[in-house]
Amino acid sequence: SKKLLVDVDCGVDDAQAIMMALAAPNVELLGITCVHGNTTVENVCKNTLRILQVCNKLEIPVFKGAEKPILGSYMDAGHFHGRDGLGDAPDPNAPGLDHVQKEGAVSAMIRIVNENPGEVSLVATAPLTNLALAVRLDPSLPSKLRGLYIMGGNTESRGNSTVCGEFNFTADPEAAYIVLNDYHCPMYLSCWEFTCYSKLSWEFCDAWLAQDTEKARFMARIFRHSMEASRSEQFEKEFVAGTGFISCDSYAMAGAIDDSFVKESDQYPVTVELTGTHTRGMMVVDTLGLLKKTQKAFIVKKVDLEKFKKMMMAALQ
Ligand code: BDR
Ligand code: CA
Repeated sequence: SKKLLVDVDCGVDDAQAIMMALAAPNVELLGITCVHGNTTVENVCKNTLRILQVCNKLEIPVFKGAEKPILGSYMDAGHFHGRDGLGDAPDPNAPGLDHVQKEGAVSAMIRIVNENPGEVSLVATAPLTNLALAVRLDPSLPSKLRGLYIMGGNTESRGNSTVCGEFNFTADPEAAYIVLNDYHCPMYLSCWEFTCYSKLSWEFCDAWLAQDTEKARFMARIFRHSMEASRSEQFEKEFVAGTGFISCDSYAMAGAIDDSFVKESDQYPVTVELTGTHTRGMMVVDTLGLLKKTQKAFIVKKVDLEKFKKMMMAALQ
């Protein structure tokens, strides 16, 4: 089986990605580390526990991590995901924060990877603050990873949170910089434009949510807020490549779960702009090799969408 460690800012699409991992028969989820992002890190912990409860997996340890980016101020995505990060559809029986581990997320990440050298795939679907702090405390950490699967960054300077920046990178540009430059391990990037080009149809989404299960009903409730926004005319105008349903974080997760999921990728050195007036947090792809970096990331271009749909369906069964 595959050992996964997941770093999240739950987030509706983070929830979808976690549920995909929990449904995968070949996956052992070693823990979930939480970080600021779509909402506060406290809400992220609460949301993660709610997801584990719905899936009867509350035994999976949840760790609380950074509450702010390394520099600059905290920025959330409450307008899209809902103030609480999960569509403002509270659950009266939600597990309390006492279920969160005493150990912090960064220590847990370092410990878990060191206990399983060469075996852990790290999936990061949030601002990269925890990962950046972890590599500063343990520079050997990346060399002990099987792979790193990130949802974040952009390739055509199309932004979804600033003019040219994707949310996870712009929410902590320094952390993204540290991770892209210091994680010397196989690194797979599911960037914003790629997720837009790989949309599923709203018909698929409707059928997905109409499954007669507790998990599908839960998803329909937490997804209502951001789904309405995504289906609005205004939002679709802002989108790259037409209309449809994008579960951003689930692409990175699917790549970690199944080695044959990614069908085509570009291999280039990548970094992040830190000082631009309009471009801070934008991913920079060094196609000419001018930065003289030895490491190249896999920039995902094409994936097996039939497989993706099956994994998405299974997530709610
Ligand atoms: C990313 O930003 C967040 O809002 C989503 O959860 C996803 O991780 C998309 O840019
Ligand atoms: Ca996310």
